[in-house]
Amino acid sequence: MTKIALVTGANKGIGFETAKQLAQQNIKVLLGARNENDGKRAEEKLRGHSLDVTYMKLDISHSADIENVRNLIENDYGTLDILVNNAAVFLDSSWFGNNIETVPMQILRDTFDINYFGTVELTQALLPLIKKSKAGRIVNISSVSGSFAAHLDESHWLFDLKPYAYSASKTALNQFTVFLADALRETNIKVNAANPGWVQTSIGSEQAPLTPQEGARTGVSLALLDDDGPTGTFSQDGELLPW
Ligand SMILES: NC(=O)c1ccc[n+]([C@@H]2O[C@H](COP(=O)([O-])OP(=O)(O)OC[C@H]3O[C@@H](n4cnc5c(N)ncnc54)[C@H](OP(=O)(O)O)[C@@H]3O)[C@@H](O)[C@H]2O)c1
Repeated sequence: MTKIALVTGANKGIGFETAKQLAQQNIKVLLGARNENDGKRAEEKLRGHSLDVTYMKLDISHSADIENVRNLIENDYGTLDILVNNAAVFLDSSWFGNNIETVPMQILRDTFDINYFGTVELTQALLPLIKKSKAGRIVNISSVSGSFAAHLDESHWLFDLKPYAYSASKTALNQFTVFLADALRETNIKVNAANPGWVQTSIGSEQAPLTPQEGARTGVSLALLDDDGPTGTFSQDGELLPW
C-alpha cells in the first residue's frame, strides 16, 4: 500500500526538497504550506515531475488549520505514515553574537509559537493517525543551534553564533524529540531529530555550502528508516550529534 507523508513548510527550501525526495520514493506526499499560492505553486511544480503530491493549507501556529488537516487526512487516507516537522522561522535580528540580554519577548514568543508550540500541537493532533500506521516515522527538522554541547564548546564553529530565540526553540524541539521517542518506545513509531547542515535557503542564506537537495538528505533518510532503525536520536548524514 502507498505510504502517506506530510511535510510542513513544503513550499520552499528544505521542506520542498524533502517532499520531492519522498514522492520520488512513490510515497503520497501532502504538502503543508501556510500560504495558499505558494503551496499550490509547489504542488504544480512537483506534479510537473509526475509526482503524487497534494497541497494542504497548514499554518502550524493556527489550531483551526491543524484540526482541518487532521480531519482531511483521517477522511481521505485513514492513517499517516510519515510526519516531517520542517516548518520554522528565524526571527532574531542576526545570526552573530549573543542577544540573550536584549531579544524582544515578542520575538521569543513568535519563534516559539511556530518552531515549538505549533510543531508539538500538530504532532499531538496527528499521533492517533500515525499510530494506525504499520511503521510510523516522525522527523523533527532541528538544528545544531539547539545543541547545548555546541554552545558550550569554544572550539565549535557555532560558538559565536548565539541567536537566542531560534536556538532555544530548537533546544525545546530536541527535548520534545527525546520525550516523544520515550513515550512511544513500545510502539512501531520512530521519532528522530535531524540537523540538515548549513543550507542555501531563506534561513541559511546564499552563503551556505549545501544545496536544499543535500540539506533534505538527513530528514528523508530518517523518514525512511527500517524497523530496526534508531529512535530518539539527533543526527546529520548518519552521524550522531550531541544534544
Ligand atoms: N537552512 C539551514 O541552514 C538550516 C540549518 C539548520 C536547520 N534548518 C531547519 O530546516 C527547516 C527548513 O528551513 P529552511 O532552511 O528550508 O528555511 P526556509 O526556506 O525559510 O523554509 C521554512 C519553511 O517553513 C515555513 N513556515 C514558517 N512558518 C510557518 C508556519 N507558521 N506554518 C507553516 N509553515 C511555516 C515557511 O513558509 P513561508 O514560505 O510561508 O514563510 C517555509 O516553507 C527549518 O526547521 C530550519 O530551522 C535550516
